[in-house]
Amino acid sequence: MYRTTTCGELRLSDAGRTVTLAGWVQRSRKMGGMTFIDLRDRYGITQLVFNEETDADLCHKANKLGREYVIQVTGEVNERYAKNSNMPTGDIEIVVRELNVLNASDVPPFTIEDNTDGGDDLRMKYRYLDLRRNPVRANLELRHKFCLAVRHFLDSKGFLEIETPVLVGSTPEGARDFIVPSRMNQGQFYALPQSPQTLKQLLMVAGMDRYFQIVKCFRDEDLRADRQPEFTQIDCEMSFVEQDDIIRVFEEMTKYLFREVRGVDLGETPFLRLPWSEAMRRFGSDKPDMRFGMEFVELMDVLKGTGSFAVFNDAAYIGGICATGCAHYTRKMLDELTNFVKSPQIGAKGLVYARVEADGHVKSSVDKFYTPEVLNAMKEAMGAQPGDLILIISGDDAMRARKQLCELRLEMGSRLGLRDKNKFALLWVVDFPMFEWSDEEQRLMAMHHPFTSPKPSDIAKLDTDPASVLADAYDMVCNGVEVGGGSIRIHDAVLQAKIFEVLGFTPERAKEQFGFLMNAFKYGAPPHGGLAYGLDRFVSLFAGLDSIRDCIAFPKNNSGRDVMLDAPSVVDQKQLDELGICLAPKE
Ligand code: AMO
Repeated sequence: MYRTTTCGELRLSDAGRTVTLAGWVQRSRKMGGMTFIDLRDRYGITQLVFNEETDADLCHKANKLGREYVIQVTGEVNERYAKNSNMPTGDIEIVVRELNVLNASDVPPFTIEDNTDGGDDLRMKYRYLDLRRNPVRANLELRHKFCLAVRHFLDSKGFLEIETPVLVGSTPEGARDFIVPSRMNQGQFYALPQSPQTLKQLLMVAGMDRYFQIVKCFRDEDLRADRQPEFTQIDCEMSFVEQDDIIRVFEEMTKYLFREVRGVDLGETPFLRLPWSEAMRRFGSDKPDMRFGMEFVELMDVLKGTGSFAVFNDAAYIGGICATGCAHYTRKMLDELTNFVKSPQIGAKGLVYARVEADGHVKSSVDKFYTPEVLNAMKEAMGAQPGDLILIISGDDAMRARKQLCELRLEMGSRLGLRDKNKFALLWVVDFPMFEWSDEEQRLMAMHHPFTSPKPSDIAKLDTDPASVLADAYDMVCNGVEVGGGSIRIHDAVLQAKIFEVLGFTPERAKEQFGFLMNAFKYGAPPHGGLAYGLDRFVSLFAGLDSIRDCIAFPKNNSGRDVMLDAPSVVDQKQLDELGICLAPKE
């Protein structure tokens, strides 16, 4: 038997017991004739003691152990002389009488401690070592608990977990697909699913009524802190439901998860439901961080055409936020904010600021263009008080300017400590537009996906004014992160064909791409709808992580590489030949 006990479980009440432990050498210290070793496994750390006086050979052997050696020891549990109240096993130690080296270890490339000296790249390359560290392991444990709770809840509501294939057909719309060549069907490709969207709809046609799946999805898109090329969804679908039914079930599930997994009681009140247009107007985002206020105030009436500042006079949008108590910001701090909004990622042309001084006077960076009366009216519109700082952004593209102001609002929220990771502000964003214009494609694209139902009252506008059609779509947002999204689906083949037409598909192409779904709709598709949560994002929020990478066992880096496996990589010519693939010469 390798062990009788793990490294996390012995307490003072075990004193006197003879035990066998196995694990990794975390650290060793030699003090006079005594050697102390911290032995680590998944469950904790136990201190081992070797005494030169009682067994010189054994102690000599212990002194030769390096970090991360795998050992097995047998000894007696002893009350510690110097107790350590910071660790659960801190009251005891093991007086070792037998030591067995199970495996040696090279010196690890970074220290396996909570605060490691290893940089990101190194830790990714040796991810299996990084995973030995408590904080990373704790994230995976949390993820496990989260998945169990999800399964428990959905099972209790009658959902069936059903697996769908990973080799599917490529679909246009959405992000880029990862494609997989088929050897048996040369010249043809599978795609890895961006989500099991159409398959879960087919499961509704098949009468499964309530489906869920904790499922890998694949999207070839540019990566960010909250995006990975392969990520996991909690994918759900229900039949005979309207938007309210879905919102009710998943709001209950969210509250359950917060309570069971995070120990947070979100209370009885239903989550706020914010129409998309209002979210954009008040926060410049379809995923507003509602942990703090600092809402936008539109200043077009007050500042456009009321002074000689050409930038505002030409603007399609002028909006401000009021940073309470920030009038003391120095020139240097304001320059920093200006550089922040002008950075390439944000792309604003500039930042206008106005301090409200103790006597109520406004002192702004545009004083010379406006009369004191106009500046005062601006202060009134902003609801600013003495001591406040007003920050204003304008632009000739209203949507873009709002997004820039949104970034500034988030930055100010962070600077003012208003984005507490232990506070959770959840809401639904509803009433999304059905379509959005794509400059790149020069056509309307589905904002959610092409299977989303337009609001029944807007169907008539599909022919006359498609851009104004709203969808029965909803996102769940927590602390400025889109944790989930879904919609009521179209279940009528004729309406589905109409949507493909608005999206610019010819009937032939729609049939070629989505014929399987339109066909299925001919055989009695029930009204249905659903949603998918981003599991990685949800767990990251629970764990207070800055990047979803930290709750994924083996994530990809920002260039989509697995640096540990060194993937993607080249393949043998033989493999390419079998697949009938010929690589274009490198440019
Ligand atoms: P959507 O594309 O909104 O909807 O995805 C659902 C949720 O998945 C998460 N997510 C991601 N997480 C990590 N990395 C990514 N690259 C990534 N992309 C998305 C987000 C998002 O809210 N089939 C529909 C759902 C439906 O309509 O039922 C879908 O996939 O948290």
